[in-house]
Amino acid sequence: MKNRTIVITGASGNMGLYFISKYISQNNLILIDFKKSDKVKKIIKEVNTVKFIKVDITDFQDLNQKISDLLIETNWKPDTLIHTAAIRSSDSKSLIDTDPEFWQKIIQVNLIGTYHLLKIIIPYFKKHKFGRIILFGSNVSRIGLKNGTAYSASKAAIANLTRSLAQEISDENILINTISPGPIKMRNDEFSKEYNNFREKYFENERKQIPLKRIAEPDDLFSLCEFLLSEKNTYLTGEEIFVTGGKL
Ligand SMILES: NC(=O)c1ccc[n+]([C@@H]2O[C@H](COP(=O)([O-])OP(=O)(O)OC[C@H]3O[C@@H](n4cnc5c(N)ncnc54)[C@H](OP(=O)(O)O)[C@@H]3O)[C@@H](O)[C@H]2O)c1
Repeated sequence: MKNRTIVITGASGNMGLYFISKYISQNNLILIDFKKSDKVKKIIKEVNTVKFIKVDITDFQDLNQKISDLLIETNWKPDTLIHTAAIRSSDSKSLIDTDPEFWQKIIQVNLIGTYHLLKIIIPYFKKHKFGRIILFGSNVSRIGLKNGTAYSASKAAIANLTRSLAQEISDENILINTISPGPIKMRNDEFSKEYNNFREKYFENERKQIPLKRIAEPDDLFSLCEFLLSEKNTYLTGEEIFVTGGKL
């Protein structure tokens, strides 16, 4: 993909950084995250076709203002959104043990934050009558996640939002799909010991159940993302596509 203006959320996260590395050389990138990791800082210093917006996507006014200011400053015209920002059920607690505030926070970031982004970005796509959007769901939207009710509920909601929104924007050549992966290999040095233990057990159990017998690498998702975001994709919209190595 080239000559696009791509908005990448969760830019300091695993998949965000991966997409930056893939798309940095031939596109304008608008990176969104509420923290600027050292890796992102280094990229921004070296490349002037990359801009960073430090913002919490749950704050609609701030997000709207900062995107608008940046687009006035750069005169860029966004046409592509890769939305990876999310938080996990990192408390690993059952529904009855989860704090109401934590449950709500996951819905706020993963679902309401997604709504904010789409509400702000889609009008820019409509102006050019073109747009390609990928949201990140998860296989847990269909299989559930023990001790992760808020996360799995938020991801199922995103997939359904995708189905509905696709019908509202398709006549302007704006296509939206959700990619729902199983576990993806990623760095884990920033997680708590408790959450790492939870993930390790979860990954081990998952690996046994995956017909391809391995956990996905980001590269396993890339060709699909490329296609969904490309102009070759003329007819696929509103879908939730599971990328799970064959696991249902
Ligand atoms: N990795 C997997 O195994 C896996 C599997 C299935 C689905 N997914 C989905 O795939 C997507 C990418 O996963 P990932 O592993 O790249 O996630 P990640 O490394 O946790 O990255 C997500 C990024 O979003 C940021 N973020 C969180 N809340 C935010 C907010 N309110 N405003 C702005 N930024 C915020 C995070 O910051 P903090 O780090 O400071 O919170 C982080 O930098 C996610 O939607 C995830 O749910 C991942």
